[in-house]
Amino acid sequence: MMKLDTLCVQGARRRDVTGAVTTPIYQSSTFAHPGVGQSTGYDYSRSQNPTREQLERKLAALEGGFGALAFSSGMSAVGALAELMRPGDRIIASEDLYGGTSRLFEHIMRKNGVETGYIDTGDIAALSAALRPETRLVFVETPTNPMMRVTDIRATAELLRGRGVLLAVDNTFLTPYYCRPIELGADIVIHSGTKYLGGHNDTLAGFLVAASAETDEKLRFIQKTTGACLAPFDCFLIERGLKTLALRMDKSSASALKIARRLEKHPRVKAVYYAGLETHYGYELSRRQADGFGSMISFEVDSPETARAVLEGVRLVMYAESLGGVESLITYPLLQTHADVPEEKRLALGITDKLLRLSVGIENPDDIIADIENAFGSTE
Ligand SMILES: Cc1ncc(COP(=O)(O)O)c(C=O)c1O
Repeated sequence: MMKLDTLCVQGARRRDVTGAVTTPIYQSSTFAHPGVGQSTGYDYSRSQNPTREQLERKLAALEGGFGALAFSSGMSAVGALAELMRPGDRIIASEDLYGGTSRLFEHIMRKNGVETGYIDTGDIAALSAALRPETRLVFVETPTNPMMRVTDIRATAELLRGRGVLLAVDNTFLTPYYCRPIELGADIVIHSGTKYLGGHNDTLAGFLVAASAETDEKLRFIQKTTGACLAPFDCFLIERGLKTLALRMDKSSASALKIARRLEKHPRVKAVYYAGLETHYGYELSRRQADGFGSMISFEVDSPETARAVLEGVRLVMYAESLGGVESLITYPLLQTHADVPEEKRLALGITDKLLRLSVGIENPDDIIADIENAFGSTE
């Protein structure tokens, strides 16, 4: 099998009659039939489009899945996954979860008769105790957004084996270049392709990757029926982004470690959450189940005023939602990604008015450090 960095560039490539080196953008909503009852293999772009198919095949190869589906955003991918549930079914999810995912579970799935329980999925005993006969899905984010909690994917898959419970892993933060949950026993992998896979802060996208033909078929039916597929031009952009995934991940992760170490020493920083630090509780587990630690760092500063000063004082790093692109971004989970999480729950997780989340891009790390230290300086 090709190595992952090769797959990023050449994975699933099909020879085109023209010799085109990049995947053409098939900007066509529909496809003519050669004869009655005949098809070229493409009928209507909601069901399948050649540009999308190429991207999906590449992602399936990278994740080691049976098949992948490209959606118009990460949330539409999670929404399609949730359509596997029936009224009365239960979901168990990581308690520290991207706020949009818990909003979907709380405001859409609950209305549809599906309850979600939230636990630290890293605690296998707690997960085992939380399982009920109605549990159909365990939804794990690892590392979590924004507190960088880590879940043992293999141990979770082993616990769930034979119980009729699907294990879905949101692999947005690590990407298949660093972690392949299906190899560790997961049934479904989720991505916000908006982040590292696209990598340029220019395109919304989402993915579901199924380990088995059976799950792939069910998800394909849901996508075809609900229709949130990724447009051909956006598929082209995400595939182009994927070609440099390995380069970007290696560069930004090396920078993140350097920045995390510097932040740890800063007098105004009270805690740094980054699994690549030996002091992080999930360091050993992360090394076991992933080939890298990624480039997301959360850190707590000494006061809400300092947090505000950093957000308003950075010049190179941009104060903006999202992550995983070439430009470094800093966010305030309290007011952005986790604004919809009830206060009590938010505080229990550590998402306070002093917590900042940094997505390290591919700029020179010394410039990023200088920019943040300069913003701290403006508080003195
Ligand atoms: C871990 C994670 N999963 C899912 C999503 C949702 O993806 P999108 O914004 O592409 O809809 C996000 C977005 O921030 C995320 O960070």
